[in-house]
Amino acid sequence: MKLKVLLGAFLIQLLSRATISEVINKKFPDNFLFGAATAAYQIEGAWNEDGKGENIWDYFTHTRPYMIITLENGDVACDSYHKYLEDVAMLKNLGVNHYRFSLSWSRILPTGHVNKVNQAGVNYYKNLIAALKENGIEPYVTLYHWDLPQPLQEIGGWPNPLLVDYFADYAKLAFSLFGDEVKNWMTFNEPKQACQSGYGYGINPPGSRLEGFLKSRLPEFTPEEIDYIKGTHDFLALNTYTTNLAKNQDFDIGYPSWDSDSGVSKYVNESWDGAASFWLKVVPWGMRKLLNWVDQTYDHPEIFITENGFSDRGELEDQKRIDYYAEYLSNILQAIHEDGVNVTGYTAWSLMDNFEWNMAYTERFGFYYVDFDSPNRTRTIKKSAEYYKNVIATKRRGNLGGITIDSCTLFGDKIKIIMHLINPAKLCWMRFGYGNAPPGYIVNGTGNYLNVHGFLKHRLKQITLTTTNLDQYKMVESLYLDGSQVQLSKEIILK
Ligand SMILES: *[C@@H]1O[C@H](CO)[C@@H](O)[C@H](O)[C@H]1NC(C)=O
Ligand SMILES: *[C@@H]1O[C@H](CO)[C@@H](O)[C@H](O)[C@H]1NC(C)=O
Ligand SMILES: *[C@@H]1O[C@H](CO)[C@@H](O)[C@H](O)[C@H]1NC(C)=O
Ligand SMILES: *[C@@H]1O[C@H](CO)[C@@H](O)[C@H](O)[C@H]1NC(C)=O
Repeated sequence: MKLKVLLGAFLIQLLSRATISEVINKKFPDNFLFGAATAAYQIEGAWNEDGKGENIWDYFTHTRPYMIITLENGDVACDSYHKYLEDVAMLKNLGVNHYRFSLSWSRILPTGHVNKVNQAGVNYYKNLIAALKENGIEPYVTLYHWDLPQPLQEIGGWPNPLLVDYFADYAKLAFSLFGDEVKNWMTFNEPKQACQSGYGYGINPPGSRLEGFLKSRLPEFTPEEIDYIKGTHDFLALNTYTTNLAKNQDFDIGYPSWDSDSGVSKYVNESWDGAASFWLKVVPWGMRKLLNWVDQTYDHPEIFITENGFSDRGELEDQKRIDYYAEYLSNILQAIHEDGVNVTGYTAWSLMDNFEWNMAYTERFGFYYVDFDSPNRTRTIKKSAEYYKNVIATKRRGNLGGITIDSCTLFGDKIKIIMHLINPAKLCWMRFGYGNAPPGYIVNGTGNYLNVHGFLKHRLKQITLTTTNLDQYKMVESLYLDGSQVQLSKEIILK
């Protein structure tokens, strides 16, 4: 018994030392790609201009406005149909590698069918793609982001197997129109969400519940279809925002639904911070766990993160969004460097505030604020855009208020932290001290303030600190730059 305890303690020590030297604000791989995302219905507006046909979101918001919290719709949204050059300039400013946007099927094919191509719609996307390419931004195109042409809904929508062919016709047309410029395509955005919200809860279009019939639900894949598509993907596109905890639950069989079939009830930890969206809790470790699960379940695929982000009410000083990105990116770094998961890209949602479905313009995910009260739909940069710009430029998840940690190594009983200033011209006073330990860390001396090395005055680009007292570094939490406190990442709070 005693031996076991000792062995346990020894292992913990080994593990924590390994962690210290491995990932302290490590860089993303050189070929890692950063981008930003939007979707047609959420930004384009011009819902009936230049020959565009009606789609299920147009129809739904016009005929059942009460399904949208503010009774608003995407008729104008961000007006990107007219302002796409501004969007491209914003992307250029962020320094993204790629822009993920979706094609509006009914802007290209007003009837849903390829017999009538709307040239103005085609031109819109050609112009957008050309502007992106001129600015060195790769278009990543989603074919279907929930906005089915209304005429196809009227023949039954997705439960009608004919839709498979109609989608293939549309996809082939899109490849032939844009394929010379667009090398990265995505098929269906969040199909599970479209099924569940469109046909289960019925809160999204078409809003018809396909449950409780003798033969219910959406059509299932046949074994032949499963065989046919198996292994045909080039990468796994992952949208993820949050985490739920789950427990078994027996549901009353009188109320069939996706949830009751699953036999699972979801819940969250009350201690988790939330965003403006009720469903979005900030659970950074969930990202790492999910990436590992995908890696193991699907045999180590290439994973390209196609959406991840945080909603608030539109603050320009959006520190909570910055914290969210910093923590989630940190966990992606750990998945890459410590767990060997093959994540090759990250796409933040979203470039700008936009029409957030049933929540209209009340929940904002953008790097740019959009003034939906102005006919100009004026865009204003937020603090998080500057943060993301820096992430992209440095390939690091955070600048820690002007300082990045290059390495943190342990040799013998000494610890050495090497960091550099992002703005070395700035005269910098630094001192390390004790702050309040974050949850989960039990340290002595919490609340005291002690200098480790006294004051350091630097104009140097690189600073090296060493100490023999590991316990003190356990408590390093705050750092003062030019007299004002900046928050250090939790990663450098050594365990
Ligand atoms: C909720 O989180 C706290 C803090 O991390 C933890 O102590 C607690 O066990 C969690 N509760 C559940 C139900 O997971
Ligand atoms: C990740 O996926 C890409 C594309 O399939 C492949 O070239 C690369 O070798 C993979 N890397 C790892 C670490 O598995
Ligand atoms: C909209 O933009 C135009 C042209 O830049 C400008 O003249 C006008 O004042 C703006 N209107 C508002 C309400 O911002
Ligand atoms: C930390 O505080 C606890 C409780 O006051 C004490 O028992 C322990 O010896 C202290 N540890 C160190 C390293 O000072």
